[in-house]
Amino acid sequence: MAETTVPQVGGEPEQGEQMYEGKAKKVFATSDPDLCIVSYKDDATAFNGKKHGQILGKGEINNRVSNHLMRLLEADGIRTHLVKELGPRDTLVRRVQIVPLEVIVRNIVAGSMSQRLGVLEGTKLPQPVLEYSYKCDVLDDPLVNDSHIIALGWATRDELDTISALALRINTLLQGHLDAAGIILVDFKLEFGRLPDGEIILADEISPDTCRFWDKATGAKLDKDRFRRDLGGVEQAYAEVRRRLLGTAA
Ligand code: TMP
Ligand code: ASP
Repeated sequence: MAETTVPQVGGEPEQGEQMYEGKAKKVFATSDPDLCIVSYKDDATAFNGKKHGQILGKGEINNRVSNHLMRLLEADGIRTHLVKELGPRDTLVRRVQIVPLEVIVRNIVAGSMSQRLGVLEGTKLPQPVLEYSYKCDVLDDPLVNDSHIIALGWATRDELDTISALALRINTLLQGHLDAAGIILVDFKLEFGRLPDGEIILADEISPDTCRFWDKATGAKLDKDRFRRDLGGVEQAYAEVRRRLLGTAA
């Protein structure tokens, strides 16, 4: 769709050209240079794109779940990129410059931490573990530390202090919201962006693609590990997370 220069009278900005297509989302420019539209796809990948598939209905579920959790975080005082849900899989967001880091918070050992350090999956951590990966597909998102991030200019010391404090605060807040829905927050990945004035805000998504969710009563996995590990019941797990957080609301 061609970008329009017609000024908008109220309402939402017009969708413009596609700026970017990632593994799970497309991002479109809009007639407002400060805003973008994110469109969630059903496509699923794992192991940095080495495994491909589709999870039917995932795009709509992740859009709804992520927006719901971001709204809860906004109410808790966390600034996010969320502006307005436009449709089942489309959301208007603030345009940010993404800090090229995957910020991972872990409450229980699982996944790559379990494999890398030889600690049994399910081991509870006495305090959260914070990890950073450099967002770079060709390098398989390598683990990096504060000094890499600052020395290579991906974020300043001040920005990283803000990011780490926000990530830990978001962990506490999300644990509370998910616990109320009978879900244990095992670990998750966040991405942050800079607004034009330099403020760091929460961006990207919070969904069963980017978190490990375990059922509080049974320990059943309610997240993308069902796809990564061929456990079956993938669509059902995503739908269950949506049902617990949003009820039967359309
Ligand atoms: P990991 O144990 O594979 O490192 O994953 C930690 C968390 O980060 C888990 O909740 C899944 C999420 N994650 C992503 O959102 N994107 C990724 O590319 C990876 C590797 C993990
Ligand atoms: N998001 C990564 C990929 O697309 C890895 C993962 O979620 O497991 O390959």
